[in-house]
Formats: sequence, C-alpha cells, structure tokens
Amino acid sequence: MTERTWIEETPAKVGEVVTVKGWVHARRDHGKLIFIDVRDRTGYLQAVAVGSDAEVFETASELRSEYVVSITGEIKARGERQVNTDTPTGAVELKIQDITILNTSETPVFEIEKAPEASEELRMKYRYLDMRSERMKQNIRKRHKVVKHIRDYLIDQRFWEVETPYLTKGTPEGAREFVVPARLQPGNHFVLPQSPQQFKQLLMAGGVERYFQIARCFRDEDARGDRQAEFTQVDMELSFVDKEEIMQLNEALLIDIVTKLYPEKRIQTVPFPRISYQDAMEQYGNDRPDLRADPNDPNLLAFCWVVDFPMFEEVDHKAHPENKADWTFTHNPFSSPVDAGLESLRNKENIGEIISTQYDIVLNGYEIGGGSIRTHQAADLRKTLQIIGYSDEVIDRDFSHMLTAFTYGTPPHGGIAWGLERLVMLLQGETSIRDVMAFPKTGDSRDLLMGAPSKIL
Ligand code: AMO
Repeated sequence: MTERTWIEETPAKVGEVVTVKGWVHARRDHGKLIFIDVRDRTGYLQAVAVGSDAEVFETASELRSEYVVSITGEIKARGERQVNTDTPTGAVELKIQDITILNTSETPVFEIEKAPEASEELRMKYRYLDMRSERMKQNIRKRHKVVKHIRDYLIDQRFWEVETPYLTKGTPEGAREFVVPARLQPGNHFVLPQSPQQFKQLLMAGGVERYFQIARCFRDEDARGDRQAEFTQVDMELSFVDKEEIMQLNEALLIDIVTKLYPEKRIQTVPFPRISYQDAMEQYGNDRPDLRADPNDPNLLAFCWVVDFPMFEEVDHKAHPENKADWTFTHNPFSSPVDAGLESLRNKENIGEIISTQYDIVLNGYEIGGGSIRTHQAADLRKTLQIIGYSDEVIDRDFSHMLTAFTYGTPPHGGIAWGLERLVMLLQGETSIRDVMAFPKTGDSRDLLMGAPSKIL
C-alpha cells in the first residue's frame, strides 16, 4: 500500500507526489475542472481533477459526499489569488493523478458540518456521521488529550494506574444501581460500580499508596445535561496525606491542564477560592456557586473549592419513606469527620454539627469533582454506618471486607474523583456532557445507535 500522507502535512510537501486518504467533503464541478475537498482527521485539502485526464475525470465526476477515497497526486502551491487563508492547507492543492474509491456512501442524513444542528435523536442514531463534524472531532480529540495529560502528570507524581472490577457488589453512594444476573450462581447478581470507592480504599489497604484510574461508573439515574447513567471519573486515592495535599495536587493538575491545553482560557482566581458549604448556601443558594465575574466570557474559568460540609443530614422521610433512620450521609459514608468532629461521631452526639473532611471542586457553577479524607479505623466506620441506620447485622454482612481490611494496618488515606465529561464539557464550551462522549445515551438512557436496552431473545 502506498504510504499515506496526513492532510495536515501537505503544505510542507509542495512539489511532491503524495497519497491522501479520507472522505469527500464536497465536490464542485466547474466544467473542465472538478474540485474535491478531501477530509481526513487532520483537516481538509482541495484536490483538482482536470478534464484532459479522462480516467481521473470520470472517477471524480462519480464522487458524492462522504465517499471514501484514496487520491494520489502532486502537491502544488496555489497562485497568489487562489490562496485561501481560512484553512491551514489553503496555500496548496493536490493535482490528481489517480483516484480510487474505497467505499461509497448514501446521502448523509444530515450535512456533516451541520450535524450539531440536527435533532439529537438523529445525531445519536447516526453517531458515526455526527462524529465526522469538526466540532465533535475536536471534542473527542481534546478529551483524549486531557486524559493523556492527566495520566502523564499523575504517573510523574508516583501514581500507579490500577483497574478495579466492573462486576462487583452494591455500595451505598446515593444512586440506584445496575444489576447483572450471575449465570453461575443462579439467583445472585453482580452490581455495576457507582464509583471505585471501596476498591480504591482497599488498594490503599494493599499498600499501593498512590492510585489513579480513568474509571467508568454506572448510576441508574435519569440523564440530564450534566449527567449520564454511564460516565467516566478521573479517580484517585493517596495514603499518608492530608486534605491540603490532595487539594493542592488537584489544583496544580487542573491549572496545568488549562495552561498547556487551553492557553486561550483564563483562570479567574489562583489559588482557587475556598468557600464553606454554609457560606455557599447563604450567599449563592447552592453548593456549586458560579463565581465568574463575566458569565458571558467563554474563556473565563472560575474554579473554587467548597469545604466544611456537614457529615450527616436529616432524612427527608416524605421523599424517602423507605428510610427509617433519622440521619443519612451527605456524600459517602466512608468520609472521615474533621478532627473536631471525631469525638461527636464516636459518642454519636451533635450529629447534625459534625463537619466532614469532604471537599468539592466546582467550575463555573458545576460540581466537577469531590473527595475526602476517609475513615481508616474500623470502629469509626461502624459508628458512621450505625448513625445512618444500619444494624450491626447489615454492617457485618455488607461491610465486613472494609472493616476487616481496616484491622490489618490500613494507612490513613484520602482521595477525590472528577467527573471527566463535566470538566471537558466546560473546557470545550459545550453545554451537555453528551457532546464530549463518543457514544452517549438519551435522557431516558437509551442507546439509539445500538438499540439498547433490548429484550434478550
Ligand atoms: P461523586 O459521587 O461526587 O463522588 O462523583 C464524583 C464526580 O463525578 C461526576 N458525576 C457524574 N458525571 C456524569 N454523570 C453522572 N451521573 C455523574 N455522577 C457524578 C461529578 C462528581 O463531582 N467516590 C466518590 C469520590 C471520592 O470521594 O473520591 C464519588 O463518586 O463531577
């Protein structure tokens, strides 16, 4: 096979005969000349077929939008008047010597570049066409770059990337879970993880000390602009650290992502402001305040930390009649209170006043992540679980793996998880996380492309 030249490389190849491969973006017939805009992942290139070459000309006239082609020809500098300064390859064109049609295409159900304006149903059903648009391509590309950046950064900071199971057991983290029947144990089920929370703590018990994972999480809840049933967390956990160290490491990483990958953007305030939960509620009426000085500035990023959350809140018995307990946890039951609250936790007193080590990271009014220092003493975890109404029998049934691990030298530890899609959505200036996912689901969690969920036949 002839060596393929990426379209972005063509301006540097004037005078050379190259082969480009890609899709027919547009075809313009000018009588004796046919112009073809060829598109690959890296850009667009104008190719020209001239009438004097009958074979090439005939193939060129057969081409339609989205046909897949291999085109060989000479890269020529365009005349001064023909230079198109709007595109990176606008100073060159390819004079076609040979075209091979690698595949044909039906007329696309929407114009590729207008895909983001098409109905969401169509875009999802024909996701592979939607993805060919510049906007979706950039979203997918930038997401990939952000992930690579995070990976490299954390590995440099001595983190190990470890995968944790998807087929696991339920964990109380607030959302409804997806269940998977276990064929070999009839009547039993696996549960898909809402997050790797317990496994990452067990990795700390295992002496991994610094873990991260680009982890898929599953929560059976209604999808919204910033929420999907299946989404990705940048998940990390560290041993022998305090809250301050985790917050500083995450802050430095977020700043590094913005300065290296989004130099056009400006972070409003560094270090990120810290607001207590109570102040946020009083001043902004929510715990994810949008602190942007100018909400219309697309390049402004206002990060802040929200801290000092209450550890427990009273159960809303009207909304949750099934919950007979007085208290529930605000984030996850594995968080530790701040030192001042430990006594109260141990004595189960002043429960509403116990402050958690929880920290949330907020960007432009969205919660993009959250974490805490964890309880690493078995007795303290048992107290937390008792406060939220679990009997010792249930605790021993559902949490013995954690409680036992804590009795075998589990170090003090803490961590955080970011919602990857929320971060990338905001960096890309999108308003829905669906636009930064290759294969998202609809609001009622259907996959229109694959036709899932479906009956098992
Ligand atoms: P939490 O439940 O706060 O914490 O989740 C962490 C971050 O994940 C993102 N997120 C979501 N993104 C898209 N769709 C969803 N359905 C969705 N749910 C959550 C949010 C959120 O801030 N185990 C803890 C983390 C820890 O304590 O280390 C956890 O999962 O951006």
